[in-house]
Amino acid sequence: MILKVVVSLLVVLLMSGYILSLNNGLARTPPMGWMQWERFRCETNCTADPDNCIGENLFKQIADVMVSDDYKDAGYQYVSIDDCWMLPERGPDGRLTPDPARFPNGMKALADYLHLKGLKLGIYADMGLFTCKKYPGSKFYLELDADTFASWGVDMLKLDCCENGGIEDLNTGYQVMGLFLNLTQRPILYSCSWPACAGSKSNYKVIAQHCNMWRNYNDLRDDWGYVYAAIDFYGNNTANFQQVAGPGGWNDPDQLVVGDFGLSYDQEKSQFGMWCMMASPLFMSVDLRNIRPKSKELLLNKKLLRIHQDELGVQAYRTSKHDGLEVWLKPLHGQYFINGSYALAVLQYYNYGGPLKYSTTLMDLGLNNTQGYQVTEAFDGINMGKFLPADTLEFLVDPTGIYIVTIIPKF
Ligand SMILES: *[C@@H]1O[C@H](CO)[C@@H](O)[C@H](O)[C@H]1NC(C)=O
Ligand SMILES: *[C@@H]1O[C@H](CO)[C@@H](O)[C@H](O)[C@H]1NC(C)=O
Ligand SMILES: *[C@@H]1O[C@H](CO)[C@@H](O)[C@H](O)[C@H]1NC(C)=O
Ligand SMILES: *[C@@H]1O[C@H](CO)[C@@H](O)[C@H](O)[C@H]1NC(C)=O
Ligand SMILES: *[C@@H]1O[C@H](CO)[C@@H](O)[C@H](O)[C@H]1NC(C)=O
Repeated sequence: MILKVVVSLLVVLLMSGYILSLNNGLARTPPMGWMQWERFRCETNCTADPDNCIGENLFKQIADVMVSDDYKDAGYQYVSIDDCWMLPERGPDGRLTPDPARFPNGMKALADYLHLKGLKLGIYADMGLFTCKKYPGSKFYLELDADTFASWGVDMLKLDCCENGGIEDLNTGYQVMGLFLNLTQRPILYSCSWPACAGSKSNYKVIAQHCNMWRNYNDLRDDWGYVYAAIDFYGNNTANFQQVAGPGGWNDPDQLVVGDFGLSYDQEKSQFGMWCMMASPLFMSVDLRNIRPKSKELLLNKKLLRIHQDELGVQAYRTSKHDGLEVWLKPLHGQYFINGSYALAVLQYYNYGGPLKYSTTLMDLGLNNTQGYQVTEAFDGINMGKFLPADTLEFLVDPTGIYIVTIIPKF
């Protein structure tokens, strides 16, 4: 009943042209932060694992490291709680309640703690009857939950889609929650798992009008097979979902596993490099208290982050894939790149053998500025020299590895 009223309200608003695209001022460049899920999952027993259980200590310690170890300065801003923060039942007032054993000071205090450090708090809920780990879902409580989150000072909501009631409920639930978040008058970055559950039924144009980021494809795991499958899914660009990404709304291939256990250094560079190319939200899911120096250096790589944060906000597109190599181009035009600049990434998708040679002229990439281009290897900033359109650019790419260059026109 309530839902019906809300849907009519939404229809009126849509018809009046009120909601043309999500306009909450957030995520003008792809958002960056840290997220619990891939690495810390759902440990709720703080006696058994006090350092890693889902509770305020974990989030505070991660926040402390984000400030002391330069992640915040590099742009990582959100500290995002995932599933398993709640008590198994709503409170007597119907509101979601953080488990007081694990969040003894409550969510408002945690938000205050993060805000004092210049960070932002992300929280998790589910549009269905239950969350994925069977905590209370937000179906029938969307307005109350939006109000609760705003009253705590939450800055981001990841709304999951377990126990969803099918495509109609998905389409309605995400739009209605977007409306209720807006009505709280608090800017709350809205992360929707909508297409991850709607799959091939996803209407990306509608999704982009209501969400700041939207998860598509599988939950990522600490494994190259999962990382590459997500890259390949983006390369295929089914349903043209790349076309709807841009300032205010982004495709989300899920968290970074850089610094965890499953990837080689080459593969970490490939994930980080491709997530930057694809203008994907960068949410690290790693124990920042204890991370290998090389992985940390990668996550803080300013040259890659400039590509990621480029104001033009175009998601890279795959121009070819054959014989082990795939080629991606991302047009750039922001503070650090003049109009006509590109980032070029070449990824070796073979997971056997040795380095493969990639060779091209810039003309073959459609780059034909007669004054030529400055080409620079992106990770280490190695100057590769000036290239005229007909000159041949060559480099080697390791198995499951990546090579990225920036190509900047000269005048
Ligand atoms: C939590 O872990 C402790 C120590 O391993 C154990 O004794 C206790 O039974 C666990 N509590 C629950 C609720 O599982
Ligand atoms: C709510 O939506 C209106 C219209 O799109 C927008 O101007 C406003 O900034 C939004 N407010 C919040 C808090 O999201
Ligand atoms: C991408 O498309 C190719 C060719 O249609 C297909 O074999 C592959 O499974 C697709 N990849 C993903 C991740 O969907
Ligand atoms: C960039 O340059 C191209 C070609 O000169 C032009 O068509 C386009 O409008 C420019 N884009 C911006 C954002 O200035
Ligand atoms: C340069 O490339 C663009 C895009 O491929 C093409 O439209 C244009 O005609 C080319 N210009 C020259 C001088 O070849």
